[in-house]
Amino acid sequence: MNVDTGLVCQSLRKVFLARSVNEVVALDDISLRVEPGDFVTVIGSNGSGKSTLLNTIAGTVRATSGSIWLDGEDITGVPEHVRARSIGRVFQDPRAGTAPSMSIQENLAMAYMRGHTRTLRPGVPSPLKKQMREALSALGMGLEDRLTTQVNKLSGGQRQALSLLMATVARPRLLLLDEHTAALDPNVAATIMDLTGKLVQQLHLTTLMVTHNMEIALEWGNRLVMMHAGRVILDVPGSEKQALTVAGLVDKFHEVSGEKLAVDRLLLE
Ligand SMILES: Nc1ncnc2c1ncn2[C@@H]1O[C@H](COP(=O)(O)OP(=O)(O)OP(=O)(O)O)[C@@H](O)[C@H]1O
Ligand SMILES: [Mg+2]
Repeated sequence: MNVDTGLVCQSLRKVFLARSVNEVVALDDISLRVEPGDFVTVIGSNGSGKSTLLNTIAGTVRATSGSIWLDGEDITGVPEHVRARSIGRVFQDPRAGTAPSMSIQENLAMAYMRGHTRTLRPGVPSPLKKQMREALSALGMGLEDRLTTQVNKLSGGQRQALSLLMATVARPRLLLLDEHTAALDPNVAATIMDLTGKLVQQLHLTTLMVTHNMEIALEWGNRLVMMHAGRVILDVPGSEKQALTVAGLVDKFHEVSGEKLAVDRLLLE
């Protein structure tokens, strides 16, 4: 497998609680190559290994075996905080990506400084403030006039928009989104999804986005990966994805897994 560019997972395996009665094979020999600029949507039933895949790529979880390469660098053994310089993440919980008692500008300053060795000095220099205002105004939420507002005063949607901005301002080599619109009201979720699409496109971000919503998985991105029991069971390229419907996707799942799709969030929504 060519590992020079993009993200490459090679025979990735993660076993939790190995050799115990509760042993779980969360990732079962995953090999995946994501080209630079690809926007891959990832779906799969509960417990199929989606979050574990993202956590293993980000370094939160250590792979049992296999390797991970990012733009030609073997990052398998690189600690999470070092990987964080080149990997942006947004989680389901809007509170996860931001420091609650700090202001919008303090949070953003941290995000801008990521990847730089410079230490953060108190106060935000005015050129950076200008940059922040511009980035915030692109969100269309009026946050550019609230730089000194504490983040815990923001709504879930505003906070998730800020999380998204923080995960992307330093232009990460990889963006990992784990059901980042699932906890939001439908309207707010749609706004955050539009914003995601805009940022990914503008910054040409290589992106993996986990969602349990098949419609979102079909609407966004240029490739769709379906996981089941720790494996990638379906990998749909953009050309085929455009013509695929939710019903078609469910049929494909039955075809490749040989199982009836469990009545879980995949079908309930
Ligand atoms: N820290 C852990 N310790 C033990 N088992 C774990 C741990 N993290 C995940 N697992 C198990 O690994 C499997 C995959 O979990 P994972 O969270 O990756 O699934 P998922 O596809 O993200 O599911 P969901 O749609 O519910 O978010 C599950 O069986 C889960 O119980
Ligand atoms: Mg998950």
